[in-house]
Amino acid sequence: MSAEDWKRQAAERALTFVRPGMKLGLGTGSTAAHFVDLLGARVKAGLDVVCVPTSEATRKQAEALGIALTTLEKTPRLNLTVDGADEFDIELRLIKGGGGALLREKIVAAASGQMVVIADMSKKVDRLGHFALPVEVVPFGLESTKLHIAVQAEDAGCLGTITLRLAPGGTPFVTDNGNFILDCAFGSIPEPEILADALGVIPGVVEHGLFLGIADVIIVAGPGGVEVLSLGDEELD
Ligand code: 5RP
Repeated sequence: MSAEDWKRQAAERALTFVRPGMKLGLGTGSTAAHFVDLLGARVKAGLDVVCVPTSEATRKQAEALGIALTTLEKTPRLNLTVDGADEFDIELRLIKGGGGALLREKIVAAASGQMVVIADMSKKVDRLGHFALPVEVVPFGLESTKLHIAVQAEDAGCLGTITLRLAPGGTPFVTDNGNFILDCAFGSIPEPEILADALGVIPGVVEHGLFLGIADVIIVAGPGGVEVLSLGDEELD
């Protein structure tokens, strides 16, 4: 079995969390795309749900599948968001934003009663930070913001190269919100909460890819099968 098969298995398991009439957040990335695909098949078979996509890419996919869409303006509270992750640890802390959609992903997850993360085994780590942490920043003052991030990160025990993400053509990658992404290759983030607090107060930082205390359940698939992780009080389907 390949990583793609495991992503699909995790997405299939996440469908068991969906109930008719639910308002759903739809994540971004290759794993979330499996979920959207499977959800589309259920909608075609008559499932009644309404969804908020976390990116323009997911919006296009969902529209093509005939999934009913809404916005957080019309529907400010959602029941459930299903999304992928770039890394997660045993405390269900995540790094997200590899696909550049971290801001909308965090807003949508925060608007949801429950966030279910779907991933293959390769995303599980002992300590966050091997995946370069994406930080969404406004283009104005980029170099100052980058410097500010480096100083705050060092205070939080994180050293590493901070790189402006580029699009395939070599120009800066621009998010759906018109911002840039700085990828922070720290290698290891010893205290994610301290780093998150420090990044959160830097002018020019719009959002960072540390999702702490947001995921309720992680469905992880690998050679040993599908495992459902939660912190305890979660009602698992
Ligand atoms: C996009 C994300 C994705 O969830 C994350 O990058 C995982 O993607 P994939 O499922 O393709 O590995 O955070 O901003």
